[in-house]
Amino acid sequence: MCGIVGYVGRQRAASILLEGLKRLEYRGYDSAGLAVLQPGGLALVKSVGRVAALSKLAAARKLTGTTGICHTRWATHGGVTEANAHPHLSSDGRIVLVHNGVIENYIAIKKFLLTKGYTFTSETDTEVLCNLIAYHYAKETAPAAAQAAGVNPQPSESSRFLTSVRKTLLHVEGTYGIAVLCTECPGEMVAARKGSPLILGVGDQENLIASDVSALVSRTQSVVYLKDGELVHLTAGGFALSTLDLADVSPVIDKVTWDVNDAEMGAHAHFMEKEIFEQPTALENAMRGRFSADGSSANFGGLNLTPADFRTIDRFVFTSCGTGWHACLVAEHLIERFARIPVEVDYASEFRYRNAPLDRDALFFVISQSGETIDTLAALREAKRKGYKCMAICNVVGSTIAREADGGIYQHAGPEIGVASTKAFTSQLLISAMFALYVARMRDLSFAEGIEYVNGLKAVPDLARRVLEQAPHIKEIASRYSKYNDFLFLGRLSLFPIALEGALKLKEISYIHAEGYPAAEMKHGPIALISPECPSVFFVPKGELFNKVISSMQEIKARKGLIIAIAPDCVELPEGLADDVITIPDCHEAALPVLATIPVQLLSYYIACARGCDVDKPRNLAKSVTVE
Ligand code: AGP
Repeated sequence: MCGIVGYVGRQRAASILLEGLKRLEYRGYDSAGLAVLQPGGLALVKSVGRVAALSKLAAARKLTGTTGICHTRWATHGGVTEANAHPHLSSDGRIVLVHNGVIENYIAIKKFLLTKGYTFTSETDTEVLCNLIAYHYAKETAPAAAQAAGVNPQPSESSRFLTSVRKTLLHVEGTYGIAVLCTECPGEMVAARKGSPLILGVGDQENLIASDVSALVSRTQSVVYLKDGELVHLTAGGFALSTLDLADVSPVIDKVTWDVNDAEMGAHAHFMEKEIFEQPTALENAMRGRFSADGSSANFGGLNLTPADFRTIDRFVFTSCGTGWHACLVAEHLIERFARIPVEVDYASEFRYRNAPLDRDALFFVISQSGETIDTLAALREAKRKGYKCMAICNVVGSTIAREADGGIYQHAGPEIGVASTKAFTSQLLISAMFALYVARMRDLSFAEGIEYVNGLKAVPDLARRVLEQAPHIKEIASRYSKYNDFLFLGRLSLFPIALEGALKLKEISYIHAEGYPAAEMKHGPIALISPECPSVFFVPKGELFNKVISSMQEIKARKGLIIAIAPDCVELPEGLADDVITIPDCHEAALPVLATIPVQLLSYYIACARGCDVDKPRNLAKSVTVE
């Protein structure tokens, strides 16, 4: 959950590193640092806090070097201090590195290195990496010493550097994405990955390394996605990809399909606001080219399964984390409702250890915006280890999950920078609705029902625009509710996951305690929380459950609980029952979760703003959870 950028080229590295680091700050923002190889030696600048604080310190230094690395940290081992900030320097001053991940056997390595005279200045696991590389580097006899002793010349500093990194990583247990410099190898960098994302940016007389593409697109759109166990040796003029066991790897250079402006905030106050209002476009992108010619079903090019394969599937298992898990719950509802196929949903972090008995003919899905969430990746690997095919619904092309899945569906929502997921979530809901249609039309959903379903989904972007037009109304509501410190979110069937999502949004960006429940569950305990100080957000359905939900609302009202109702514009609420109402346009049943989500995204956003919270970088969070 940290961000790494490395640069080796002809330009001064510092400004390029800082520009890239700003785009990775959503991955972690406890502290930041950079290291640049200078003609006079190594320049190292670190600071607690945001990249802006680091930029100020760097501006005061004369950083002329053209090779450098930098890092923005989400603390795992060791508190938020300057000493624990990356980059870390070996105690012999030769090796400097940045790391994303967790070294699980760092205590044993540290004990060994202490016996060899290495010293430590931080509480981090990362520092053992740079000292262990330094140890191996020193052990590779230096050429000058060898010649002085009259023995055959030893490998150059460059190959010693690469060898020492490789030997170190063979000792390491855990996860890493690292970029390493050696003070005796100017103009060179070694980077490697295992379990944490790392991407090589291939430029013109320059090469870069970064944790994700957003830090590279301003320099190049040619990228190589490193795989676990690979390491790359970079110079300005080129790079060599290999594996830890010395096998050369032929790089596959991909083209990034979006540009740096997509990752800009534009005129918005926050990335979250931008991404909320981008949803109509993201929803259009999710559907583009994915309906059948006869207009009654959906088509997905990347599932790598034939309709005949789908005929044998008698159960789906969906796993994910956080907001993605809420999307799994909606997928479960829609697939069971329309395709009549059972669906199991599990937290990825639970699935991987539960050793659940599984149907022989189950098909797995993971949902992940970043494609790097380690628990979701581990669940995918566990399903594959058990011999199951696993699909991924993912927003980041070339991400680890996307590459390791047997097939899947890209969301094409564009980069999502805000830590709180918004457009990626509604895109996942729409894709889930399309997938439910796809399998339903292979079973009992009729042509006419399919046509109606497709038309219902095609209407979603414009209906979403109509919901977004209520932003000023929702902002006014938020201004009156921002003082409360407890909320309930209540919904039923496909709106229960949206209640959970609304509660998560409010929790994670405004730090208000909020819980989501099935509306009927309220009587079984949560109603004890109701008071004038604990408002409830109700998702009001149309149809058979309308009266049931109205009853639940009346039970809240009887106890002086405030109510914000999110209701279709085709129903009429009893006078005075809700204190505030946000209406959503009437829509196809499969589209309802998407449209019901937007009001709670806006409500949580405006409440968080009213409370002065850092909406895009909430405390303690990071965008992509790449550590367990
Ligand atoms: C969403 O608002 C949260 N930031 C978080 O729960 C997120 O959904 C979760 O970490 C999964 O991330 P992923 O979709 O990138 O795998």
